[in-house]
Amino acid sequence: MASTFKSFGYGEIQTPTFETLELFTAKSGDSIIDEIYAFSDKGNRELALRPELTAPVIRFYVEKMQMEPKPLKLFYFGNCFRYDRPQKGRYREFWQAGCEIVGTNTPEAYAELVAMAYTILKNVGLKNIQLNIGNLNIINSTFTKLGLSKDGQKKLLPLIDKSQFDDVFSLLSDLGITNDSTKEFIDILQTSDINKIKKFIQEDASAMDELSNLEKILDLLKSSFNVKDFQIKMSIVRGLDYYKGLVFEIDAPVLGAEKQLCGGGAYELVTLFGGRETPTAGFAVGFDRTILALEIEKFAFPSLKTDVYIIPVSEEMIGKSIEIAQNLRKEGILTDLDLLRRGIGKSLKYANSKNAEKVIIIGPKELENDSVTLRDMKAGDQEVVKIADIVSKLKNN
Ligand code: HAM
Repeated sequence: MASTFKSFGYGEIQTPTFETLELFTAKSGDSIIDEIYAFSDKGNRELALRPELTAPVIRFYVEKMQMEPKPLKLFYFGNCFRYDRPQKGRYREFWQAGCEIVGTNTPEAYAELVAMAYTILKNVGLKNIQLNIGNLNIINSTFTKLGLSKDGQKKLLPLIDKSQFDDVFSLLSDLGITNDSTKEFIDILQTSDINKIKKFIQEDASAMDELSNLEKILDLLKSSFNVKDFQIKMSIVRGLDYYKGLVFEIDAPVLGAEKQLCGGGAYELVTLFGGRETPTAGFAVGFDRTILALEIEKFAFPSLKTDVYIIPVSEEMIGKSIEIAQNLRKEGILTDLDLLRRGIGKSLKYANSKNAEKVIIIGPKELENDSVTLRDMKAGDQEVVKIADIVSKLKNN
């Protein structure tokens, strides 16, 4: 994941595990306190374990990085804490690999962001993922057209988020919206036909601009980034309060209920934290869920590997064994050494369990001739080699 971020020009940032509570309530209000680990420290400061890294990264940007050349591309890998009810794929401590881009809102920047999220999950080896792309400004325009109050929107959003369209229908009926408008609205939430959406919002010039930008992003994704299997999904509303405009999610359907692997989009936090206005966007991949999805897809995880395991046959051989191990390590050879003074049989068994490709047995007779015994664990054969030749022998194999 890190190398994919780097291949797109991102540099790594680390922020503290805990922050002031206010950093997270500033946008979401006190209601978020129920969902996070909030506590006061010995100095009675109100703190929180970070539930995510976007607010911390933007705080850091406002404090220290506003003068950096734009766009600023930052990626992170960090643990997050949420006071969730734990279940498969939903934990109280979990890991996110994510990124933020500061200082651009061009369609090519957004297309690159979405393409990078998709590429990260493809590069780790996932076969079956689903990319869905929406836009909150367009959804807000549909709310205005329906004449929905802020209160009505607040009740509606969680239902849309969970794709509970029957409940959306009942709620809108209760709110006095006509059946025809409601049906058309639910159709917009589920359609992938951009023309249908266009027709619904055509009187709203700014929403129409947003839609034309979305079309540019989708075009670049398809024709230039070669990311073709995505869906337009206007029902993406995202759980966090800071998003504006483009939003997207990537699911792994094999995960069932907790299938969302990645979420992100454009958002506004910089001015809220006292910085000069500048566009921001980003996403985060749930690392634990990615591993779960790979396991279900029967991904062959690379096993621990040891190039060489060294066995001193007696106490007197330990010093020389360590010396040889250190030389091999300097050459970049992954080298381990018996630390339990076990017999050769048991040591060979242990070397096997650590997938050692070769074993070097160091005994007094060979050592007299500046030599050791080199054993190939796969073939099971062994030869006596000069100490000076070990590195070239190992590297040419
Ligand atoms: P989020 O959708 O809340 O977005 O979280 C991103 C990902 O973290 C989810 O898609 C999911 O895979 C994983 N995740 C969330 N909660 C849990 C949990 N309790 N257990 C396991 N995995 C979980 C954000 O956090 C935004 N900060 C993303 C972003 C960055 N937006 C802009 N920039």
